[in-house]
Amino acid sequence: MKVLVTGGTGYIGSHTCVQLLESGYSVVVVDNLSNSSEKVIDRIKRITGKSLKFYKVDLLDKPALDEIFENEQFDAVMHFAGLKAVGESVMVPLDYYNNNITGTVNLCYVMKKHNVKKLVFSSSATVYGNPASLPITEDFPVSATNPYGRTKLMIEYILKDLYSSDNEWDIAILRYFNPVGAHKSGLIGESPRGIPNNLVPYIAMVAVGKLPYLNVYGADYDTPDGSGVRDYIHVVDLANGHIKAIEKLKNKVGVVTYNLGTGKGYSVFEIIESYKKASKKEIPYKIMPRRPGDIASCYADTSKAQRELEFKAVYGIDDMCSDSWRWQEMNINGYE
Ligand code: NAD
Ligand code: UFG
Repeated sequence: MKVLVTGGTGYIGSHTCVQLLESGYSVVVVDNLSNSSEKVIDRIKRITGKSLKFYKVDLLDKPALDEIFENEQFDAVMHFAGLKAVGESVMVPLDYYNNNITGTVNLCYVMKKHNVKKLVFSSSATVYGNPASLPITEDFPVSATNPYGRTKLMIEYILKDLYSSDNEWDIAILRYFNPVGAHKSGLIGESPRGIPNNLVPYIAMVAVGKLPYLNVYGADYDTPDGSGVRDYIHVVDLANGHIKAIEKLKNKVGVVTYNLGTGKGYSVFEIIESYKKASKKEIPYKIMPRRPGDIASCYADTSKAQRELEFKAVYGIDDMCSDSWRWQEMNINGYE
């Protein structure tokens, strides 16, 4: 089975390429390298001992995308390509709407033209907004508080409309909680450009001595220790969730939506402790005001994915932190 992976040189896409190749799929990557490095392709080859094809193409370039579909006969598409920084999306919303939405619409047009109608889409727990209760099930009301979140929500609706217009499609919408960690080899991981926005990459920079201390955004939340609680999921578990999803799409399912998380919430202070243990480094921090837009707690009800995909995350926070640390130590400047 041949799978097109858009955004396949990115953080989650690269880990999913490894799991796809190791599960016997043939893989073709399309990425414009706006937030990743071509070096990832060689690293994936080194890990798996298998080859994969890479096209440096932007999803906004519909003719180039069409040409790839002319040359390759895909059975399914995994669509990771997109811009993902919440703060940046507030500053340059048009870039986010253009890249994420137009990119997805182009992809769907080309898929339809070439009769490729199986799609796995990267959505986010951000579509649950500020949930009224926890844990979050897939049927909770959805909303968005920033342009990035709105692109995810709009794409979900676009995909549902597409299916309503043509029942030959099979689409899995995967709502990720907080992906962290890296492949055990230390060869691929998260390599954010500039100062990281997310907790674990930021802590990694502090542990490796590139940033002086962590800002803890709020210690006065209504949580056990006052800091924000999230459902962190190891990126390799997340990648395996995609294998389960693509297997599911081999049957006629229509549009299905799954949470991919562990179902357990950990606080910022718990992550700091675990990272200290993994890295044997001090993680100095300062307590700062809450970050605008953040919620106190967020974790998934994972029973639907467990029941219908037979997916269950196996790695815990100590694995997440030690694998993140191995990647960080082996690649002090990421892929640069
Ligand atoms: P990433 O930035 O590492 O990977 C995305 C990749 O897409 C990058 O390699 C980038 O160069 C590529 N890309 C962006 N726009 C493109 C375009 N127009 N054409 C071709 N390639 C393009 O991000 P990631 O963390 O791997 O996230 C993958 C997907 O998962 C994204 O859609 C993201 O919104 C979603 N997601 C991520 C998280 C998270 O915390 N990392 C959480 C929920 C959802
Ligand atoms: N945090 C800090 N200091 C930092 C960074 C984060 O204290 O430097 C705290 C946040 O306040 C929050 C927790 O760490 O309590 C996690 O923050 P992240 O930025 O790592 O993750 P978020 O839950 O805010 O958001 C992430 C992605 C979003 C996605 C969301 C749900 O960045 O794109 O998960 O999937 F929508």
